[in-house]
Amino acid sequence: MTRTLVRYTCSACGQESPKWLGRCPGCGEWGTLEASAAATRSAPRPEPLSSPVPLADVDPLGAPRRPTEVPELDRVLGGGLVAGSLTLIGGEPGMGKSTLVLQALGAMSAAGARCLLVCAEESAAQVRLRADRLGALAPDLLVVCDTSLPDACAHAEAARPDVVAIDSIQAVQDPDAPGGPGSVSQVRDGAVRAQRLAKELGVATILIGHVTKDGSLAGPRTLEHVVDTVLSFEGDRHHALRMLRASKHRFGPTDELGLMEMTGDGLVSVADPSSMFLADRRVGASGSVVAAVLEGTRPLCVEVQSLVVPTAAPAPRRVAQSFDGGRLSMLVAIVQQRADVGLAGHDVFASVAGGVRASEPGADLAIALAIASAREDTPVRADTVAVGELGLGGEVRQVPHIGRRLVEAQRLGFTRGIVPGSTPDVAGMDLVRVGDLDTARRVA
Ligand code: TYD
Ligand code: MG
Repeated sequence: MTRTLVRYTCSACGQESPKWLGRCPGCGEWGTLEASAAATRSAPRPEPLSSPVPLADVDPLGAPRRPTEVPELDRVLGGGLVAGSLTLIGGEPGMGKSTLVLQALGAMSAAGARCLLVCAEESAAQVRLRADRLGALAPDLLVVCDTSLPDACAHAEAARPDVVAIDSIQAVQDPDAPGGPGSVSQVRDGAVRAQRLAKELGVATILIGHVTKDGSLAGPRTLEHVVDTVLSFEGDRHHALRMLRASKHRFGPTDELGLMEMTGDGLVSVADPSSMFLADRRVGASGSVVAAVLEGTRPLCVEVQSLVVPTAAPAPRRVAQSFDGGRLSMLVAIVQQRADVGLAGHDVFASVAGGVRASEPGADLAIALAIASAREDTPVRADTVAVGELGLGGEVRQVPHIGRRLVEAQRLGFTRGIVPGSTPDVAGMDLVRVGDLDTARRVA
C-alpha cells in the first residue's frame, strides 16, 4: 500500500497542520512548521504485532514483573518492570535519574537479567567510574555510548537484553528525521520507536527524560501518551531527599510514593521516613503539630509548623511551603472564623518540615492547630498527633485509612490522637474525638 500524506509539525510546540502556515496556530511562533518525514510513508505496512483473541483466554497476570532490586522503585512500579513495557523517568537535571537507572540495571544484572544501558550523554568511562562508586558494577551489564536512536535499537536487537535503558530521550536522535536532538518531533518519534522496540522484543524499556523549569517533561505531551508508565523523580536541590511518583501507570496504582536519599554512595532507600521527618523536631515548641498523612498506601507522620507574626501591611501574607497556598488561605479563614483566633493584621507562614508534600486534606486539622498554637504561643502536647479534614463550617471530617495512620503514629511513640468523631479505637492510643476545630483547639 502506498500512501502519501504530508503533515506539517511545529518544531516549538508540536502542533500539527495539514498545510504549511507561516505562523503556528498553536504557539504563535513564526516559521516553525516543518514537513514531518514520518508522515510521508510509502513503506509497506509492518506485520501486526498481535491478532485478536477471546478476552477470557488472556492470562490476567500478563507478563511477569522483574524486580528492579531498588526497593523504593519497585514499590512505585508495583513490584517491578513488566516485560515489553515502556517506562519514562522524568526529572530535573542533577536530580539523580542516571544514578537511579544505573543502580537498578546493576542490581538487575547481578540478579541474572541481561541489561543494556544506552548512554547518549556520558562516555562509557564516566559510566564505569560511577558504577564503581555506586557498587553497581555487574560483570554482565552492557553499555553502549551512542546518540543515534536507530543504532541504539539495532544494538538492542543484536544483544537481545531483558532490560534496556536510554539516557536520555532528549539526547538521542534519528539522523534521517528532521529536527535536532531534543526537538519536539525527534522526542515524539523517538518514544514511538522505543515503544515499538519494547513490544517487538518484549524488552522492558526505560527512557530517561529531562523536565523543564516549570516541572513538565521537555517535549510534546504526546510523549506521555506513548509510554506505559511515567515516573517523576523530584526533590529539593538543597535536600538529599528524593521522591519518586508515578503520574501514569498502566500496570499498577499511581499513588505510591518512593522515598530515597542521595548519599555519597548513590541513592539509598528510606525505610523509615516518619522517623527521618521527625528527627529534628523541637518538642514543646508552639506552632508545631504532628500530622499523620497518607501517601499512596503508606502512612507518614510529618511535622507541620506555623509562624504567626504581626504586620502593618494592609494585606497580610499567607505563605505555604510544601502544600497548596489556596488551602492555607482557606484554613486561615476557618481558624479565624470558626475557632475565634484573631489573625487579621498578622502574617501567617505554614510549612511541612523535611521536604515532603502534604497534598492531602488529612493534614488540615494539624495545620489549623499549628496556626492557632503559633498565634496564641501555647504548644500542643508533644505526645499528640492530629488527623482530620476541615470543612468550611469548622467541622472535623473523617479521612481514609485513619486506623493505619494512627498505628504508624503509635509506632513512633505517640500515645494521644485528636481525631474525627467516628474514629474506631486503636489499641494503646488515647483518642480524643472532636466534632469541630474549636473543641480540638481547646483539648490540644
Ligand atoms: P545524576 O544521576 O547524574 O543526575 P541526572 O541524571 O538526573 O542529571 O546525579 C546528579 C547528582 O547526584 C550529582 O550532582 C552528584 C550527585 N551524586 C551523589 O551525591 N552521589 C552519588 O553517588 C552520585 C553517583 C551522584
Ligand atoms: Mg543524567
